[in-house]
Amino acid sequence: MAIKFSRTFLLRKLHQITGIVPLGAFFFVHMFTNAKAMNGAKVFNDAVADIHHLPFLLLIEIFGIFLPLLYHSVYGIIISAEAKVNVVSYGFGRNWLYLFQRITGIFLFVFILFHLLHLRFGLFAGIGLTDIAVAGNASMAYEIIALDFQSVGIVIFYILGVGATAWHLGYGIFLFVVDWGIVVGEKAQKAALYASAFIAISLFGLGTNAIFSFIRPCGLMPSVLCEQTEKGKAVESEKF
Ligand code: HEM
Repeated sequence: MAIKFSRTFLLRKLHQITGIVPLGAFFFVHMFTNAKAMNGAKVFNDAVADIHHLPFLLLIEIFGIFLPLLYHSVYGIIISAEAKVNVVSYGFGRNWLYLFQRITGIFLFVFILFHLLHLRFGLFAGIGLTDIAVAGNASMAYEIIALDFQSVGIVIFYILGVGATAWHLGYGIFLFVVDWGIVVGEKAQKAALYASAFIAISLFGLGTNAIFSFIRPCGLMPSVLCEQTEKGKAVESEKF
């Protein structure tokens, strides 16, 4: 018997899968690359240069990041606009979590748009930010971001951005495994919810420490956890 899928069903499934692969996978890799800042400017700039040297980078960016991001954001906003908020009538856990999923999604739309236009395309000069894109300037990547992070407002915006992304992805993974029938049963779903929270908290910690690594060596971690190479120290001392 042929199974017929409605258009909405397929669009919804595509929305869920793009959130996990490639966007979720990208966020993991992105936070690990940023975390390299804890080992100094040289280590971070080299990591950015390695990315810039990837073959077919523009195609990877367009088909692996920009288009999935565009689809996931636009369709996510459509879902949010259509969805009924039933937190007030049934004020219990899952509804609040689902409402927060939509709120973080909308905030992320603004944050990622700003972040991309600024660091990837070099826009927003003149509001206390650098006018140099990191793209094409790997040897200055650390310095460009460190200058931005001299503004407390920008640091707070980034902490919120990392927090919202970590939450959105963590709970998104939970919704995905339940909706795709990978995790069935009440006990297993409860365990999956804890695992998702663990992923979200870990990514938030990793990303937040990366942010502070552009403000002080090793970020919020004790310096014993960081390897400050001699060359890395040299780049930083030139700057300060
Ligand atoms: C710890 C805070 C963050 C820092 C320091 C940071 C740094 C950067 C840098 C330097 C670039 C430009 C890369 C290049 O052109 O070579 C970039 C691009 C990007 N970032 Fe972030 N980022 C942070 C948080 C986030 C968050 C929370 C998201 C949300 C998903 C995000 C999503 C992106 C995307 C989609 C791109 C474009 C990727 C590309 O075109 O290669 N970033 N980021």
